[in-house]
Amino acid sequence: MTPSQNAGALAFFEDLHPPKSRFLDDVLTGLAKRQKSIPPKHFYDAKGSALFDDITGTDDYYVTRTELGILDGIADDIAARAGKDTVVIEPGSGSSVKIDRLLNALDAPAAYVGLDISKDHLISACEDLAARYPGLTVGAICADFTQAVPLGEFPIPDGRRLVFFPGSTIGNFEPDGARSLLCRLRDWLRPGDAILIGADRVKSAEVLENAYDDQQGVTAAFNLNLLTRINRELNGDIDTGAFSHRAVWNAELSRVEMHLVANRDMQFTVSGQTFAMKKGETIHTENSHKFTIDRFTALAASADLSVKTHWSDDRGYFTLYWLERA
Ligand code: AVJ
Repeated sequence: MTPSQNAGALAFFEDLHPPKSRFLDDVLTGLAKRQKSIPPKHFYDAKGSALFDDITGTDDYYVTRTELGILDGIADDIAARAGKDTVVIEPGSGSSVKIDRLLNALDAPAAYVGLDISKDHLISACEDLAARYPGLTVGAICADFTQAVPLGEFPIPDGRRLVFFPGSTIGNFEPDGARSLLCRLRDWLRPGDAILIGADRVKSAEVLENAYDDQQGVTAAFNLNLLTRINRELNGDIDTGAFSHRAVWNAELSRVEMHLVANRDMQFTVSGQTFAMKKGETIHTENSHKFTIDRFTALAASADLSVKTHWSDDRGYFTLYWLERA
């Protein structure tokens, strides 16, 4: 890791040594399935992370800019609800743009605690944040937040906890996984603590499919980069030019699916194992679930969380929810 310039000091760093995500295992297992699939977390190598940032700037991907617009409009409301000395906890600490908006909105926040599975990314993101907010106590915990993380064992300052989970990341999980993730986040809450979570809404198939197949082709490049990553890191010989990107709205399961479609019959090897695909066959690479407010409220309730209030943009594209223990 290159040390970041102007790094601030962390008040604490705890390492739970989460198992490294098994790229090779996931790829070999996923490609052996009848419907081939690879988990979306493997998109995010350096190139994939840069492409995701570019996606958020495209005209068609409304998600990020819509959520930021909502956050801006509700800053005073959030500050009033949270009160003074809030401790912000961010699982998957990621976009500095969003966390800055939240911290700037709050009235003298006491602390920020970032949680991420990737240690290097976590430390640099948290040190950067500490440098930008000199008065703030900043801590970092390297952990897999889909598993239980015993916050009580760490030196987290007193104050109302606000768990921040933006970006509709919850939509990447299948319903069971989404429920158990919400249960894990709920376990961090004491009475009066809250979760601020963003979730993308159900809308027309056209808007949804365009958002995941933007005109500029950035999302296509993002999806196809997974094959390039496999070739480079897992000794693959996949003809990436023989695949195309597909995004399709699955109304029954309320999700946008991304696939890589084989344009011809082919064979390839990955790490010495041979796989065959027929023309038209796909590798399923991502689900992005979309929620009506009712559906999301029911999902939260299934994790013993109740929606205290929620905020949406004028078009009703995206919603931020304030959740507390039921
Ligand atoms: C970062 C997972 C929320 O599902 O909208 C964007 C990722 N994939 N375009 C999403 C993504 C294709 C994004 N999340």
